[in-house]
Amino acid sequence: MAISAFSYIASASYSNRNHKLRCWRSSFSFSPPSRPSSRCHGKIRAHKHGKVSSRSNGVTVLSSAFFRGKIRIRGYCMLSTSPNGVAVISSNENYGNKEVISVTPQLYEYILANVREPEILRELREETAGMQGSQMQVSPDQAQLLAMLVQILGAQRCIEIGVYTGYSSLAIALVLPESGRLVACDRDAKCLEVAKRYYKRAGVSHKVEVKHALAINVLESLIETEEPGCFDFAFVDAEKRMYKEYYELLLQLVRPGGVIVIDNVLWHGRVADPLVNDKKTMSIRDFNRSIFEDKRVSICVVPIGDGMTICCKR
Ligand SMILES: C[S@@+](CC[C@H](N)C(=O)[O-])C[C@H]1O[C@@H](n2cnc3c(N)ncnc32)[C@H](O)[C@@H]1O
Repeated sequence: MAISAFSYIASASYSNRNHKLRCWRSSFSFSPPSRPSSRCHGKIRAHKHGKVSSRSNGVTVLSSAFFRGKIRIRGYCMLSTSPNGVAVISSNENYGNKEVISVTPQLYEYILANVREPEILRELREETAGMQGSQMQVSPDQAQLLAMLVQILGAQRCIEIGVYTGYSSLAIALVLPESGRLVACDRDAKCLEVAKRYYKRAGVSHKVEVKHALAINVLESLIETEEPGCFDFAFVDAEKRMYKEYYELLLQLVRPGGVIVIDNVLWHGRVADPLVNDKKTMSIRDFNRSIFEDKRVSICVVPIGDGMTICCKR
């Protein structure tokens, strides 16, 4: 990594919505930020020997259009406008120098360009793009992961809570066998109409049992009417503050070896920011902690989309 021969000042500002950063030298290394923050505004002074100080309480870093090669960031906070991508290194030295890639707009374009998105899903995504709440839809790469899990499991019976206009449920239904069944539930009738139209167009209506109701009611009624452990796969993408309740009920409905996937577990990165303590963030953080400690499942947090946790029931 190139290190500039003298100190310099870069101005940087960052907010969750708007990644902005300017830096006028090639690159530098620096010590971990004293405090992780995603709301850093201020000046960063970078020295040749790897110190970065900031007048604000956060920190962070860098990249520039002139940069060639890789930027390495040690710490929690990172930013980049670099088209080359950014590698992040844990600030905990016990993890060594293991670098993980951070997705930039350019890299994300590349990932999306490599998703095999069925035509019918593309059409649904494009129709939904003009609708209110389109940001709620899972991304094509997430949908592809869900579909793959369903295929790997050889799933016959699935549940989705939080359908919206049907993008993730359609991705699941498309890969279910003819005898497969997906219970798809949402409280919003208007969105469900769009979803049903697309199930029909895709020729999968017979696989999807649409439930227009509150998720908790649907799950409770499934517990009453179905055998315990008769589902193979569940996807949770509805009310965030109800995640614990959904999860407990789904654990009864899913078989050992079955999988429950929960969306939005990284909550735009807020779960990792100790300065963010609104109710939704705290409830997702709390939920993540409880799953981490739950010996009834194996878990894997996947930083895809807004973060998905894959739980395999033991
Ligand atoms: C994030 S969106 C689901 C996106 C969908 N999985 C997709 O990929 O298009 C969340 C959906 O959950 C629904 N929802 C929120 N709270 C709910 C509840 N308590 N019961 C049922 N549905 C709920 C909303 O109406 C919304 O359509």
